[in-house]
Amino acid sequence: MKLGWSDVTPKAMWLSRRAFVSGLGAMMAAPSLARASFSTDEAPNSFEEITNYNNFYEFGFGKEDPARYAHMLRPEPWAVAIDGLVERPGSYSVADLAPENTVEERIYRLRCVEGWSMVIPWLGVPLGPILERAGVQPGARYVAFETLLDPDQMPAQKTRSMPWPYVEGLRLDEAMHPLTILATGLYGEAMPNQNGAPIRLVVPWKYGFKSIKSIVRISLTEEQPPTTWQRLQPQEYGFYANVNPDVDHPRWSQATERRIGAGLFAGRQPTEMFNGYAEHVAHLYAGMDLARDY
Ligand code: MTE
Repeated sequence: MKLGWSDVTPKAMWLSRRAFVSGLGAMMAAPSLARASFSTDEAPNSFEEITNYNNFYEFGFGKEDPARYAHMLRPEPWAVAIDGLVERPGSYSVADLAPENTVEERIYRLRCVEGWSMVIPWLGVPLGPILERAGVQPGARYVAFETLLDPDQMPAQKTRSMPWPYVEGLRLDEAMHPLTILATGLYGEAMPNQNGAPIRLVVPWKYGFKSIKSIVRISLTEEQPPTTWQRLQPQEYGFYANVNPDVDHPRWSQATERRIGAGLFAGRQPTEMFNGYAEHVAHLYAGMDLARDY
């Protein structure tokens, strides 16, 4: 006999999950006209580049460490807790959050704070409707995200190189923005482990470190949540981390970027404000001093 959700989850949680999943029909009926314009028509990087040049410090600090060690991660079964200031807290499978028939392709630029960039054809679902189905309470102002903590699957968590688990956060309006997705795959396939299987955040107008991988918890909070890089180096990495060619990192310029795979002689290309997504997101930061709120 196959175990069902009701066998492994307390009744209240199962009921709230059922209400959550039944909200999906409404979401699928939503118009998707505007979405096509979210994808860039720039040429995507190759699958090999996207899966062999990674930052995933749970597997080591080298760019090739994730490809080498991420086979230790077991992305199935997987549960994502949604909790905090929500009406329907619960534990959800990846299929609950991103049913296969609702997943869409988003070809996004990814700009790492280190000064390199790629173009990645993600598969995923917008985060906003997921939060709406969970029922955001009026007091919620931020969304906190947490990566799996399991040193047996993520060997560098046995070291104290960073505070584990990796955590990130967004303001609620950033999390609700239609560009913000939970990605479950790329190039039409399930998410490779080194890219954050089975489910990760992608926020294309922010430096790559905001796009937290292998998420096990999403919490709605009133207070701005801590983030791993702010904890490590608050003078260098802010909460917002919007891609901004005019605000340099204290140790290097952010005016240009190196596109991975462009070739030895391609040279660096100019970095765009909000990574080229300004028309969609600049209004979120109206009146803010982006040099102070970096
Ligand atoms: N998420 C976790 N849990 N651990 C990490 O080390 N690195 C971040 C981000 N998400 C990281 C993470 C950084 S610095 C970048 S640039 C992107 O993942 C890289 O994503 P990619 O390897 O899929 O290109």
